[in-house]
Amino acid sequence: MNSDRRIAPSILSADFGHLAEQVRMVEDSGADMLHVDIMDGHFVPNLTIGPVVVQWIRSNSKLPFDVHLMIENADDYIEPFVKAGANLVSVHFEACTHLNRTLNLIHSFNCKAGVVLNPASPVEWLEDSLSDLDYVLLMSVNPGFGGQKFISHVLKKVEKLRFLRAQLGLSFSIEIDGGITINNLRDAAIAGVDWFVAGSSIFGSNDPPATVQRMKDILKEFTLA
Ligand code: DX5
Ligand code: ZN
Repeated sequence: MNSDRRIAPSILSADFGHLAEQVRMVEDSGADMLHVDIMDGHFVPNLTIGPVVVQWIRSNSKLPFDVHLMIENADDYIEPFVKAGANLVSVHFEACTHLNRTLNLIHSFNCKAGVVLNPASPVEWLEDSLSDLDYVLLMSVNPGFGGQKFISHVLKKVEKLRFLRAQLGLSFSIEIDGGITINNLRDAAIAGVDWFVAGSSIFGSNDPPATVQRMKDILKEFTLA
């Protein structure tokens, strides 16, 4: 049904001392979008970057920016991140009190709106929001850090979500984030994942462009389906 399969390298695992080169490297090797992790030290126990850095990367890249907000009070920061260059913005279900309002806010800036679920959050929580969003991001690690082990039972949530999508006649995309490597990408694609975030397995590999290419090759068989 959905043949839009994407690889989204997460810059969290990039060498921030050479960020422009690192972004160019994955862009030139065929990455479909750039995953940008925003952490506030409250919702998750880590801090990353703010709109100033996103704006700086924006001036060095033409890729769509997939901005993953792991923050409280997301409504206060959506506009600054959109102005900095975000094209897709996702917020955590667990951190949003007024989710419908937040999704409307993201759409008001002509951005794609996504909702993220932590590994322990069931997909049923989204049932009443699925028609309001463009993508669902399922965390396959507990958010906060790169380089963690893939939680494989999240693939059951992918299957459930794919089923719900068909049942409701909707067309949102399913994204997965955390512990994705060339070894589990295929299983995730079979389960129904459309967009694949990968940080350490790309930027931590000996040959990041070859890793992106290998991932794209694995997805080819699904794109033809
Ligand atoms: C974790 C972040 C992820 C992270 C993934 O909270 O949301 O995007 O960069 O990193 P890997 O692919 O190394 O698990
Ligand atoms: Zn992320």
